[in-house]
Amino acid sequence: MNEKEIIDPWSSNLPENYRDIINNFGLEKFNVHDFPEPNLLMRRGIIFAGRGLGIISKSIKQKKKFYILTGIMPTADKVHFGTKSVIDMAVYFQKHGAETYVLVADLEAAATRGVDLQTAKKRALEIHIPCYVALGLDLKKTKFYFQSSNQDVTNLAFEISNKATLNEYKAIYGNAEPSRIMSSLLQVADILHPQLKEQMPGIIPIGIDQDPHMRLARDIASRASKFKFILPSSINHKFVPSLTGDLKMSKSEGNSLFLLDSDKEIKDKISKALTGGQKTLKEQKELGGNPDKDMIFELFRQHLIENDSELKKREEDYRNGKILDSENKEYATKLLIEFMNDFRKKFEKAQKEVKKSFD
Ligand code: TRP
Repeated sequence: MNEKEIIDPWSSNLPENYRDIINNFGLEKFNVHDFPEPNLLMRRGIIFAGRGLGIISKSIKQKKKFYILTGIMPTADKVHFGTKSVIDMAVYFQKHGAETYVLVADLEAAATRGVDLQTAKKRALEIHIPCYVALGLDLKKTKFYFQSSNQDVTNLAFEISNKATLNEYKAIYGNAEPSRIMSSLLQVADILHPQLKEQMPGIIPIGIDQDPHMRLARDIASRASKFKFILPSSINHKFVPSLTGDLKMSKSEGNSLFLLDSDKEIKDKISKALTGGQKTLKEQKELGGNPDKDMIFELFRQHLIENDSELKKREEDYRNGKILDSENKEYATKLLIEFMNDFRKKFEKAQKEVKKSFD
């Protein structure tokens, strides 16, 4: 996929680009009215597209069985705020009746990033999974698994491997390295395996960069007729820009927030964040700032301000020059520190629970 075509650092000032993505890749536009009690990512256009959304909306409304499944590579010791968004979506669907699967993509990380399985396991059990639980996933109701120890998934990956061709791979992925072929077949098996026991719709919340896997999963699901899979659905969120406004989910240390960051890290990072303010105080008061090009507002929208009217008022005040960057940053710092203090307590509790349940 052409990166230029699909990556956009701003959530709201380049709607044409996201429209292009939807058109070019045959995605469905996400319609917030189709889903009950939408969370803030859904209400604020961060969730913007998907595939097969109708069947999921119907499953929720008619209280029919469906599943949510997501996977995360254990490439770092820290959990990025972009991952928080994925888990927030998993929590949303779990609360709306979905069977929940969260996998640690340790085999993919080994094949594509050189992370050894032992390190991946330690990280996942000590940090990642406790973070997901602290974000609100119900440990008892969530099936966590490692790719490397789920035989159903590996078996399925082998069985479906004859349903794709090398030409198709090249068309979808551009190139076809063995590590990628293995990882993507495994991912397709991850996505479909909950249906081995019972046919049902499934929703996969992913960044748009993962959409090629979704296309492959849907193609394979329709060809592997003996399994009678219902085509899996997906829901896509926009890229989370780094605090300095860099493209993509920039996971580099200094300019991105991570769960469990210390008060000092939060203060330092927020102080350096890119804002939509003017060059001078005088200009800011006269001309106002642009909340659409402001990483602090990005945080308010995606993570920190739950109340829609509070957010709207703050955006207006910023546009009108009533709120300055320094005040915004101070408020964001305060909210983040509060969030993190609360999160840290939940994390420590979750760490103990996870340890017990995986022993
Ligand atoms: N490829 C995903 C990533 O880069 C991880 C992943 C593996 C995944 N299996 C999955 C995501 C199934 C969603 C569904 O992080």
